[in-house]
Amino acid sequence: PHVFYLCRHGQSEYNVLGKIGGDSGLSPEGDRFARALARFAETEICVDGNGLFGAPNSVVPARLWTSTLKRTRDTAQYIQHPKIEIAYKGDDIDGRPQTWVQMRPRPWSNLDELFAGICDGMTYDEIKEHYPDEFARRQRNKLAYRYPRGESYLDMIHRLDPMILEMERHREPLLIIAHQGVLRLIYAYYLGLPRESAPYVSIPIHTVIKLTPLVYECREERFELLK
Ligand code: F6P
Repeated sequence: PHVFYLCRHGQSEYNVLGKIGGDSGLSPEGDRFARALARFAETEICVDGNGLFGAPNSVVPARLWTSTLKRTRDTAQYIQHPKIEIAYKGDDIDGRPQTWVQMRPRPWSNLDELFAGICDGMTYDEIKEHYPDEFARRQRNKLAYRYPRGESYLDMIHRLDPMILEMERHREPLLIIAHQGVLRLIYAYYLGLPRESAPYVSIPIHTVIKLTPLVYECREERFELLK
């Protein structure tokens, strides 16, 4: 089966300040997660333990996706282990793999966080203070609410739609380092949750969620990397 690993970026400088959006770097704790994630990729993701497609514990190819935002790219930065010769380089015309390269992050803007428009960079308290009506409208319908000059969860569903196809196009395990809002939707899709509840799903920080979609269900495992 396909195997997907989902995680949020490590704690960002904005997370520490309680601000939403932006394009900040990682906090020291977030950087610690990035290092732990590299070890996890090496020991969990790129290892074939079941012996079906290769010898047990052999190195397997895997894919690594991030958003275009600094905090996800920084979270991927240590996953460059020379032992991990995994992602195929070849995007040649008939799709045949050409060269082995290291697990290499591929940034997708489709995976960027929900854009909060005029509220980008604010704390929730600041939004409440400066735009009380907007705040109340969002409380009433979080799924459909679109930030002025920004996005709604429904907008994100549209830009994530092609990503689901892309996720399932290859069989290699895939690690996605993205953001809470985006991951809520991908997670809800695979778990078959109603879209109304998706914006409220909790995606804990510093935790990798492993999803294995099966025919009638989706198996889920969680790995808390920083205890
Ligand atoms: O707080 C982290 C964050 O990823 C913000 O950047 C984003 O706006 C928010 O979570 C999404 O959560 P919610 O839709 O619940 O406000």
